[in-house]
Amino acid sequence: MGKILVAYFSHSGNTKKIAEKISLVTGGDLFEIRAVNKYPEEYSKCTEVARKELMENIKPQLAETFNSINDYDIIFLGYPIWWGTMPMPVFTFLERCKFDGKTIMPFCTHGGGGSGKSSDDIKKLCPRAEVMECLQIKGTELARADEMIRPYFQRRKTVFTLDSRLIPTVAVLATTTTGS
Ligand SMILES: Cc1cc2nc3c(=O)[nH]c(=O)nc-3n(C[C@H](O)[C@H](O)[C@H](O)COP(=O)(O)O)c2cc1C
Repeated sequence: MGKILVAYFSHSGNTKKIAEKISLVTGGDLFEIRAVNKYPEEYSKCTEVARKELMENIKPQLAETFNSINDYDIIFLGYPIWWGTMPMPVFTFLERCKFDGKTIMPFCTHGGGGSGKSSDDIKKLCPRAEVMECLQIKGTELARADEMIRPYFQRRKTVFTLDSRLIPTVAVLATTTTGS
């Protein structure tokens, strides 16, 4: 039975919180996707850098290469929405690893615009992976994250029954108290 990976990119910490929660309830291994060059802390400066990368299709170099993708069957892929899609380091990550035959479960945090075209972009980069519905959580509603995560997992029961370790997930989520 294949393992579960929770790979995520997070700039200001929102997506990281959801990734840690998903890792906790699924037992999945956590991997943080980080770019070599750090993004500016200041919001508008960060949006400028991110916009330039997207417009010019720049794939930033990653701080750490992930070499064990073959060990995993289900990959939860988390990211904040930047300019209507994933930050470019997530593009780099998807290009570098082979996702053929794997199940990708995207999750994102956003500022109100939803998941944008991120799922379509994942499908383009990983045409031979099964890409499931994106779990979308608004950055300002992290305190209510469990309320959104629970029905998402319940809708995915068919996937989870393939892997017995995931079955208790729904039960755990039903009892966990909400984080910050
Ligand atoms: C560069 C940049 C671009 C963003 N673009 C969008 C966007 O297009 N749509 C949206 O809803 N939110 C957008 N946001 C808001 C983030 O998606 C949101 O704050 C997210 O929860 C941040 O996650 P993080 O803390 O994991 O980095 C943007 C934020 C940044 C910094």
